Amino acid sequence: MADQYAVIGNPIGHTKSPLIHGLFAEETQQDMAYIAVEGPRDPEDAFASVVHAFAASGGKGMNVTAPFKLQAYLLADERSERAALAGAANALMFRDGRIFAENFDGIGLLRDIEVNLEQPLRGKRVLILGAGGAVRGALLPFIAAGPSHVVLANRDANKARSLVEKVDARGMLSAGGYAELETMGRFDLVVNATSASLTGDLPPVPPSVFSPDGVAYELAYGKRLTPFLRLARNAGVRNIADGVGMLVEQAAEAFFWWRGVRPGTRDVIDKLTVPLE
Ligand code: ATR
Repeated sequence: MADQYAVIGNPIGHTKSPLIHGLFAEETQQDMAYIAVEGPRDPEDAFASVVHAFAASGGKGMNVTAPFKLQAYLLADERSERAALAGAANALMFRDGRIFAENFDGIGLLRDIEVNLEQPLRGKRVLILGAGGAVRGALLPFIAAGPSHVVLANRDANKARSLVEKVDARGMLSAGGYAELETMGRFDLVVNATSASLTGDLPPVPPSVFSPDGVAYELAYGKRLTPFLRLARNAGVRNIADGVGMLVEQAAEAFFWWRGVRPGTRDVIDKLTVPLE
């Protein structure tokens, strides 16, 4: 039997993961099957039963999406440092009766920016909007890339500040509210990691943060020109991107973790890209 993998979430109908991993498996000639599983929302511990049953039936690994990332993290026997700071897992591996938790969202985002968009973060000024799960996942890989300064801005400024206090970043990291951004000058990279775009909203970010030669990155994908990307475009930013590359790159990291083979991502990103305009 082919090795079994799955993505679990609720809802799960729109997931691209089976398509992405199917293309990876074909390209790298791995004998594996990858399905989508709608996880139970109720009762809360039913999630653990579904994961255990999948592992017991020979499952080798799972991707985890909303709303189960925290539960997946808590369920694991061993957790990576990245997953620990995020307090969330987006990938699980089942081996020797144990569950291992990882979080590749941040490293996927970083690879998309540094490799695909060709914008190394070393020495750059970076602004991240939001302080939720997506930001917690991105923080360690971002800091490891050596930017000169990373600023977190959030509506609830205290949430951003308490996140910064958890990370040892030698003064490179600071946090605050949106109003403080007015006086902070331009950033080379501005990442919208809030969930505002999912409802068509715009975080109250001043246009003065954008640099025409920099990058504006929207974590949401397939939503075309979101209010955030439109604001960046109107501020003169030429290099704007949505999260399709991050989606594919985090999948490639999980694939490599599970299979020990690194798939190519360019063709898959091209297949999944919805033009911004
Ligand atoms: P995720 O896991 O996707 O990061 P989350 O943990 O619920 O989701 O976090 C959502 C983030 O989006 C938070 O930073 C939230 O700001 P608050 O912490 O101040 O609530 C931010 N967010 C959601 N809607 C927003 C909006 N309309 N404008 C600005 N920020 C918004």
